[in-house]
Amino acid sequence: MFPLPFTGHLNPMIELAGIFHHLGFSVTILHTSFNSPDPSRHPRFTFRTIHHNKEGEEDQDPLSQAEVSAMDLFAFIRVLKQSYKEPFRQSLAAEVSEGETVCCLVSDAIWGRNMEVAAEQVGIQRLVLRTTSAASVCAFAAFPLLREKGYLPIQDSRLDDPVIELPPLKVKDLPVIVTKDPEELYRIMKDMVEGAKSSSGVIWNTFEDLERLQLMDLSRNFQVPFFPIGPFHKHSEDLPSTKNNKEDNAITDWLDKQDPKSVVYASFGSIAAIEEKEFLEIAWGLRNSEQPFLWVVRPGLVRGVEWLESLPCDFMENIGHKGKIVKWANQLEVLAHPSVGAFWTHCGWNSTLESICEGVPTICTPFQTDQRVNARYIVDVWRVGIMLERSKMDKSEIEQVVKSAMIDKKDGMRERCMALKEKADICLVGEVKADLRPSKWAEQYIKFFY
Ligand code: UDX
Repeated sequence: MFPLPFTGHLNPMIELAGIFHHLGFSVTILHTSFNSPDPSRHPRFTFRTIHHNKEGEEDQDPLSQAEVSAMDLFAFIRVLKQSYKEPFRQSLAAEVSEGETVCCLVSDAIWGRNMEVAAEQVGIQRLVLRTTSAASVCAFAAFPLLREKGYLPIQDSRLDDPVIELPPLKVKDLPVIVTKDPEELYRIMKDMVEGAKSSSGVIWNTFEDLERLQLMDLSRNFQVPFFPIGPFHKHSEDLPSTKNNKEDNAITDWLDKQDPKSVVYASFGSIAAIEEKEFLEIAWGLRNSEQPFLWVVRPGLVRGVEWLESLPCDFMENIGHKGKIVKWANQLEVLAHPSVGAFWTHCGWNSTLESICEGVPTICTPFQTDQRVNARYIVDVWRVGIMLERSKMDKSEIEQVVKSAMIDKKDGMRERCMALKEKADICLVGEVKADLRPSKWAEQYIKFFY
């Protein structure tokens, strides 16, 4: 398996590795020297580091974290793809020639067609893992059409226009990113789609009852077998590592002291960054809502600031035991805690699935790319969340939205959350015992592997 080295991509690949291992496969994870996973946390897999610097050069990684934040994300992905293309091909060839029977490569879809050449040269099948929603891939795959029709690049005057070809998306929901070179995103997504179409099949971290129409649509377009076998984290024993166990215990102790369904959990994933002004609006909005809150302020979340130093000195005193701010949390544990009543999220796909699986309603503040599509689906299709657009994120709006998410308005949102959670639970049973719920996808899955 060859993951893309970002938390939102590494986590699902590790979980998928756990599923393969459970099915009786041995798993080797080839990973970049940048942002390497910790092998000691997953002793059942073999880990091999791929270095992109030439032999004889100092074993130091020039793709440091600092460079990631300085570069824009898709420019960085281009550098990653270029840097690891040849070293990956060599590592895969070495793996295959070692005598073990390598039956299949599973690579993150973002590596694109680079993987096609590498797998063909060593004569093995290649599956692709797409870590985002099928709905967002429908939009990525439609980029050429959206450009032709003038939706892209996005014009401010059209933000609220519907995208007739991709209901229920509006122009402002299209999965783009503010970047110096928008062409970079289009190129990477085109390569992602072509790499998936030329693969032996696509594994999705989603489930049929959630995204049936989008999967059907894409399946007709891609013409390769599809395996929507998510949510991975519910199938797998190999869950992403938490970063600080001591802090996790303190979080659980604090949550244990709160009333059932009273806590707002706020976290914006592993990449999103905000300005200091936004950070202060969030802080005051949470405080003014007078709900207990657990807020993940990852170092690096606030541009130009180390951690909490821009908060007024008396802020923490002021909130007392009502609020807790941490650098990282074991999100799966937090969302499963009975005290958590709502999740304020950036709508990364892992966070979205994790909240659906626990039946927790969401406040949706998408930042970029697929998060915008996920947010629209949460709010308008599955109707298990409330939108709080980043551009409208001032303290009084935050206070009002948080209050309305926490008060059970009897509008059916909490019931819909529980109904969706049940669908996720049922799909797990169906997946394990395919005979209980034979589906188009389960048949493909069985044909492919057995
Ligand atoms: C990125 C993209 O932003 C996202 O849109 C895409 O779908 C995947 O790649 P990220 O922004 O990190 O991911 O968000 P998300 O997909 O939600 O993944 C974050 C992961 O980190 C989740 O599995 C979450 O459980 C975990 N996490 C996050 C923690 O365990 N603790 C935290 O404090 C925050």
